[in-house]
Formats: sequence, C-alpha cells, structure tokens
Amino acid sequence: MSDQSLFPVPPGFAGSKTIDAAAYERLYRRSVEEPDAFWAEQGKIVDWIKPFTKVKNTQFTGDVSIKWFEDGVLNASANCIDRHLATRGDQTAIIWEGDDPAQSRHITYRELHEQVSKLANVLKARGVKKGDRVTIYLPMIPEAAFAMLACARLGAIHSVVFGGFSPDSLVGRIQDASSTVLITADEGVRGGRKVPLKANADVALKSCPEVSTVLVVRRTGGQIAWDASRDVWYHEALATASADCPPEPMGAEDPLFILYTSGSTGKPKGVLHTTGGYLVYAALTHREIFDYRDGEVYWCTADVGWVTGHSYILYGPLANGATTLMFEGVPNYPDAARFWQVVDKHKVSIFYTAPTAIRALMREGLEPLERTSRQSLRLLGSVGEPINPEAWLWYHEHVGAGRCPIVDTWWQTETGGILISPLPGAISTKPGSATKPFFGVKPVIVDAEGKELTGATEGNLCIADSWPGQMRTIFRDHPRFVETYFSMYPARYFTGDGCRRDEDGYYWITGRVDDVINVAGHRLGTAEIESALVAHEMVAEAAVVGYPHDVKGQGIYAYVTLMTGVEPTEELRKELVAWVRREIGPIASPDLIQWAPGLPKTRSGKIMRRILRKIAANEQGSLGDTSTLADPAVVDGLIENRMNR
Ligand code: WT7
Repeated sequence: MSDQSLFPVPPGFAGSKTIDAAAYERLYRRSVEEPDAFWAEQGKIVDWIKPFTKVKNTQFTGDVSIKWFEDGVLNASANCIDRHLATRGDQTAIIWEGDDPAQSRHITYRELHEQVSKLANVLKARGVKKGDRVTIYLPMIPEAAFAMLACARLGAIHSVVFGGFSPDSLVGRIQDASSTVLITADEGVRGGRKVPLKANADVALKSCPEVSTVLVVRRTGGQIAWDASRDVWYHEALATASADCPPEPMGAEDPLFILYTSGSTGKPKGVLHTTGGYLVYAALTHREIFDYRDGEVYWCTADVGWVTGHSYILYGPLANGATTLMFEGVPNYPDAARFWQVVDKHKVSIFYTAPTAIRALMREGLEPLERTSRQSLRLLGSVGEPINPEAWLWYHEHVGAGRCPIVDTWWQTETGGILISPLPGAISTKPGSATKPFFGVKPVIVDAEGKELTGATEGNLCIADSWPGQMRTIFRDHPRFVETYFSMYPARYFTGDGCRRDEDGYYWITGRVDDVINVAGHRLGTAEIESALVAHEMVAEAAVVGYPHDVKGQGIYAYVTLMTGVEPTEELRKELVAWVRREIGPIASPDLIQWAPGLPKTRSGKIMRRILRKIAANEQGSLGDTSTLADPAVVDGLIENRMNR
C-alpha cells in the first residue's frame, strides 16, 4: 500500500463539533508551544475539589520527575459518577452484554453511584484506606468497573490483573503491590467456556499469606473451595452496606492505579498512573479522538485487564458522561456475526477494536456482516498493533460501509492515553498509518545514536516532552523507570517502537524494536517466556522471538535446548506448551517450538536474536552479518530444521 492512498473524511460523516483541519493545526501548535496555557484550559474537562494553580512541572533528565496540575485536588470516581447525577442520573452509564446473547444489563449513573459507594464502604470496613493497593482479578462483568471505581473513591490504588493470567502471574503482581485485598469471581465465562478464577486465586494465595480478604463475586454459581477465614461473598457484603460514601479528596499526583506490563527484561513492571493528569488526558482524548457526543453508545471491545479497558472503557467515557458498553464474550461466539449483532442490538455509534479481531473476522467472509445492518455506526477505531492495509480497507469498506472514519490509535500502557491518531473530521487517513500527534504530543524519530532525524525518515520513536497522561514511575522502582525509558536517548521518553514519517508528516508505527512481542494485541516480554521455559527441568536454554502470523500479528517461536540426554519428542513439545500456559497464561503459549542443539552466540556468549528472528520469519536468505558468531555451523542446523515453512 503506497502513501498516496489518502482517505479524506467520508462525505457523510458529520465532522467533529469544533475541530477541522485548520483548527487542528492551530490548536496543535499552541499545545506544544504554550503547554501551560493549553493544558490549563483543558484541565477544566474534569471537576476539581480544589482547582490547580500550577500546570506542568516535568523533567526528563537526571532523576526524571513528572507532575501535572500538582496542587489541584479531585476524585476520579466523583468525576466518573457523582458529577453526572444531577443531569444524567437516569442515563445508562454501562451497558453490559453477556457472553450469552440472551444476557444483558443496563446500569444507570444513579445505580453506578449506589453500587460503587456500597462496595467502597465494604472495602473501608475491611481496612482499605487511601494509598493501599487492591488487586482485582475479575472477568468482564460490571463488578470489575464497580471495583475500580470503589478503589478510586477511597483513594486506594487498584491493580487489575487480566483474568487470562495464571496463578503464578497473579502471585507476582499481588506480591509486588503487597495487596491485602483481592477481588475475584467464582468463574468467568468466555465463548461458552468457564474460566476458573477462584480456583486460580486459591492456588496463588498459597504464596500470598498477607492477603486477608478475598471478595468473591458470584458469576456462575459453579463449585468453588471456600476459606471462611478469608473469603467473603461480594453480594452478601454489599447487602448490608451503606450507599453513602463521600469520595476521598485526592491530590492530582496521588496514585490512581498500577498496571503491570511486560518489558524487554525481567519481571513485569508496575506502571503507575496518578489521578489528575491521567483523568484529564483520558477524558480529553476520548472526547476528541472518538468525537463522542451526548447520548451515543460507545463500545471498546478490550478487556479491563489492559490499559485500553482502563482508559477507554472506564475512565475516559465515564468522565465524559458517556454510555459505555462492556462485553463479556469473544468475537466469534456463538458465531462470527456476534460483534455486529451487538452493534445492532445496542445501536452502537462508536466501535473500537484490535486488528487481530478484524483479521480473524475477515477470514469468515461477508456473510456474517450481511446478516446485520450496522447502520448506527459512525466511527471506527483500531488499537494494539499496526493494522495492515488489507484489514484497514476491509474494516472501512465492509464494517463501516465506507461511511465511518477510522481512527488508528497508537499508544501504550505507559502513555495512559492515545498519543498518535487521526482526529476524525480534521485529518485524512491512510490505511496503516496512525497519522498525526494528539495535542501536546511531540514525537521525534532518532537513529541508533540518538541523533534526531528530520523530514521523511525512519528510526526509533521517542517523545520529546511530557503529556498529562504519562506514567509517573514504576511502582517501588524509580531507578528502573529512569533506566528503561530515559537512558537510551537522554532527555527523551523512548517508546520501544520503530516508526517511519512520510513526506506528509504522517507517522507509521513499524513495531517493537526491543525484545517485546505483540501477540494478538497482547504485549509479552520474550524474556518472561524464556524464563518460564528454562524453569522446566528438561530445558537447558531457550530463546523466544516473534514471527509474522496471519491473524495474531505475531506468533511465538521458541528455540529450546534440552538437557543433555533428554530425548526431543512430540509429547515433550506439547508438555512445554502446556507448561508455559500454566506459568504465564494461555496468551503466552508458544506457537512453534524448535529443538535447538545449540543457539547462535557471539564469542562473548550473547545470543544473536536477529538471526533467530530471521530464521523464524523464514527469511534465512537475509541473515546479515554472521561473522561475529562463535560457531557458524549452529545456524545451518537451525535453518535446516526450521518450523515455519
Ligand atoms: C504497544 C503497547 C495501548 C493500547 C494497547 C496496547 C503497539 C499499540 C498501536 C497502533 C501500531 C500499536 C506498540 C506499542 N501498538 N497501538 N495503533 N499501531 N502499534 O498497549 O500493551 O502497552 O502495548 O502496542 O508496539 O508500543 P500495550
């Protein structure tokens, strides 16, 4: 796909309320030239208990310090609920669509207020107070939203762990955060299958003795084990709780949540977001990039276990008084028309999903689409990985019937909200490009030495200055924060992504340049999968890389060296796949495992991953320089026995 195919704003699209192309340019310039003045105005998108007088106080050098609106006082839950009660108490805040198409629920802002206040009182009675960490391990049910907002109401810091993670992954996150309270459910339901959340939690909690309260939501009524000294039914606790719980006044820089995410090395990092800047940024980007209008139904298909769910199912939409849809199920259950049936059922105007889902549905042909109307759709969004032009065009032509602009939104757990994306109504799109920076965002492309490249170019993507939604630190590890994001290219935030800028100034994200892989929109550190593999008693060494995968974007390719004397069998291959699933979770299951008698290493013993990536991608014709290899013969053997043909 060439850069020439420019898609203007579709003629039928009633553009953004205020922002056209000229207004975007003008506002963007002001936002980066006068950030204090710009953000002082935008900061009013939320209600402040005590208004801020200071706006930006950030520094990307030395110890790195990021503060926004630092003397302001607010509460995120009050912004997402209480402030809407007078004007939209009876409006639906959350539409919940169950895995089973016969189940759905509408929760008004008034009901949300009641549920969240009661839960906050339950947590308070269990000793939870401002600054405490509460771990949430729930499926996509309304209680997940109630739990996050109840923490925010008390000023407790939530740490949501995706329901697809294993007991071991849950242990790591509970321990790192030192949570004493866990909120979970008996079981989750996805695609007609049960997910044993409470059973997983029981296993995890054997290693977390400091957890003294487990609140359990009854989702399925399935059989579970019960420890009366610790376990409490959610519905029983709420039955007697008061619905009056005043929101805790929080400093703008008081933490709102921690969310663990994979990096290129070590264990997952606790990305910490604070209250004021995060909420302002989530609300503003949601309103402008999705062009949200009063009364519309907005649907982001992510899980609340990921940052997309935090910012664009919960905080952004609710801060804006939107009706946000929360879907428990999967795109292909009961069949491949499910997304479109839900769109029709709830008259969804704005639909936000991931390229992997689009590609999977594309394979099913047009029949599922033809069974639905999708007339309510006005805007489509994409997030999580680069969207290939074929998928973009299918989304545009068939899902949106050519009527709906597509916003391809580039961002990260660390950025809190969208940094590069079209503004619908203002920016013409190109299939596969995230287009232009949002207000206040200064992307720079640098070469390996850190030299800034200008004009049309390609290199590593950094951001030159802070924006309000930026993460503030890694929980309890500020040195790692500085080292990970600010040491490679001093005085700039390094994203870990490669990027191209074309002659129109459009940005094209080319994927990770570090050892992070993106599998079906889920971010995984290859190091984590490797340490899971070598924890198996028959494995001596392992190297994991990503390789191109038709539906998932990237698949997981593992090279495994077995202990001397261990016979490589099909059975062992299956066992290792199951082992990684158990250690990390199903999303980390290797797609291909190649037995590797040896790994290509430099003379100093460093694994040459570049070569392993090439072999996994079936591009052994272009291995590049192999002269530094300790034993070049290893590579020939790996090529000969490669799995991806
Ligand atoms: C990585 C961040 C925050 C959204 C969910 C993922 C990749 C994300 C795009 C996009 C190309 C994208 C990047 C980024 N990514 N959106 N629109 N185009 N790549 O959050 O798990 O923190 O992953 O996802 O590689 O660094 P995450």
